[in-house]
Amino acid sequence: MNESFLEGKVFVGGKWVDSVSGKIFKVYNPADGSLVGSVADFSMQQADEVILAANVAIIEWKKKSGKQRSLVLRKWFDLVIENQQELALILTKEQGKPLAEAEAEIRYAASFIEWFAEEAKRVYGDVMQHPLPSHRILTIKQAIGVVAAITPWNFPAAMVTRKLAPALAAGCTVVLKPSQHTPLTALALGELARQAGLNHGELNIVTSSNSSAIGAKLCEDSRIKKISFTGSTEVGKQFMAHSASSLKKLSLELGGNAPFIVFEDADLNKAVQGAITSKYRNAGQTCVCTNRFLVQRKLASSFADLLAKESAALKIGNGLELGVQIGPLINAAAVEKVQALVADAVGKGAQIVLDGKRVDDQALFVQPIVITAANESMQLSKEEIFGPVSVIYTFDIEEEAIQMANNTPFGLAAYVYTSDLNRFWRVSEALDFGMVGINEGLISNEVGPFGGVKESGFGREGSKYGIDEYLVLKYLCLGVGE
Ligand code: SIN
Repeated sequence: MNESFLEGKVFVGGKWVDSVSGKIFKVYNPADGSLVGSVADFSMQQADEVILAANVAIIEWKKKSGKQRSLVLRKWFDLVIENQQELALILTKEQGKPLAEAEAEIRYAASFIEWFAEEAKRVYGDVMQHPLPSHRILTIKQAIGVVAAITPWNFPAAMVTRKLAPALAAGCTVVLKPSQHTPLTALALGELARQAGLNHGELNIVTSSNSSAIGAKLCEDSRIKKISFTGSTEVGKQFMAHSASSLKKLSLELGGNAPFIVFEDADLNKAVQGAITSKYRNAGQTCVCTNRFLVQRKLASSFADLLAKESAALKIGNGLELGVQIGPLINAAAVEKVQALVADAVGKGAQIVLDGKRVDDQALFVQPIVITAANESMQLSKEEIFGPVSVIYTFDIEEEAIQMANNTPFGLAAYVYTSDLNRFWRVSEALDFGMVGINEGLISNEVGPFGGVKESGFGREGSKYGIDEYLVLKYLCLGVGE
């Protein structure tokens, strides 16, 4: 991959062009503060050029057959797989997650391109009976129009492809705005998309240090027909408000507060393994990471002991070092937030059973922390921790666990560990969450419909449902005579 596109360019109309602003911003490695690259700081003066490029490109792109679009996406998938090591290296350097996890993320990202390359061919309509014999009813599904995809720093590759692949498969064109913390992976994916044939404005990428200004512009511009955003609930609500003037369709994948319920009939070892997977992925910085362990009283102390032992054994450090399992947090604000939440919990009676000291006061590393005796007055029961802190609450009966789990405005992922088949159905159905992992701590893949309810947002990504987010239904009424 020739990396010249990383230096101060924006991707518009299929070409890497100079940013009108002439300004750049720098991207640093959270593990050691070293400079990873400099990218264009997009100027709003160029917004029209970019939105226009996507609007011009959609004329030809949406006319193509599903199979024609599928072939381009398939080529993009092949290029991502060919370049996976290089992409993973960029990802680890700018985001911090361990290289093995970055490699897994690149394969996860590629799986969405492969999946939606197939789904491009499977967009169907219906033929229905009209009430009168002289007519017929048909439905067709068509591309919604130009899409703006606004993606987060915790999955710099997978959240990009989870939006772009279904949009492009449906016949939409896209303006992508990746996080200012991790724009380089997105630019690299863009270069591979260009090489695959997305070189007429089907995909446009803008990088900016001022996310809220560019986000607001994309939401307000009536030439953009759909916003797909992954990020915080707070920003999601702002984007929804900005989109109201043009009544834009939205997909919002927002914050979570995942409960992980362990019943006394669960397999303890499996539950702790699931807990480690669910809690410490990306150093606890995912929307589906467990935020609250709810453990039935009889099992609580053995669960806490084993979780503390396994957590203490995790290797923390620079993601480029062999064997590292937990990298740094994204920035100093993230570290301060984790420390403040832990201090608040301790002040309200929590007990620390594994004390995650900072590895170095200047660095962004936080060792895993395990807390017991948590209660619902603590701030970390209400907020996403987004760090490697395992918090254990206890309950006595099933109804109490369900009530505690649902006692949050969020509803993204939940986890349940039990060996009782009846209980697994009962509890899964009673949980107000969009996704439930049962005896499983990792639920994300391209086939399952990812998405939340309540203030975790709406819309589904991946799966056979994901492409519908980028399609509109048209009803055709056909007069055929008697
Ligand atoms: C997220 O944290 O937003 C996405 C997590 C995933 O895809 O597993």
